[in-house]
Amino acid sequence: MSNLVRVSLSLEENLLENLSRLVKKNGYENRSEYIRDLIRDQMTREQWKSGGEVIGTLSLVYNHHRRGLTEKLVELQHHCGCRVLASTHVHLSHEICAEMVMLRGDGNEIGKLANAMKSLRGVLHADLSMSTTGRNIS
Ligand code: NI
Repeated sequence: MSNLVRVSLSLEENLLENLSRLVKKNGYENRSEYIRDLIRDQMTREQWKSGGEVIGTLSLVYNHHRRGLTEKLVELQHHCGCRVLASTHVHLSHEICAEMVMLRGDGNEIGKLANAMKSLRGVLHADLSMSTTGRNIS
């Protein structure tokens, strides 16, 4: 674990009030832990932008009655420039399915795959959650 270093910073009164409100609203015990998480969140965004190795989870809701859609979704995952770590399929109703695909690799490649999957006809909703391998953000 890295050494803890104490820092002080200057903030406008309004910003400090907003910070305190956000800390409380988000259930943090103190400002330090909240600011640590803000920094980690920003570093994760940077990893995605810079093409570093990241973790992404794509959630999809689609109509499996759409001709050829299931095959296309599988085909895209087989030929993507990233690794599929896991996927889960749930049958929501007679025709609607939900799927979660967890991916590891270059952020740009994961983004390309997510866009290719979400733009297919029959996909009703798709959302990419951008996360990190945890490396270099502590
Ligand atoms: Ni299904």
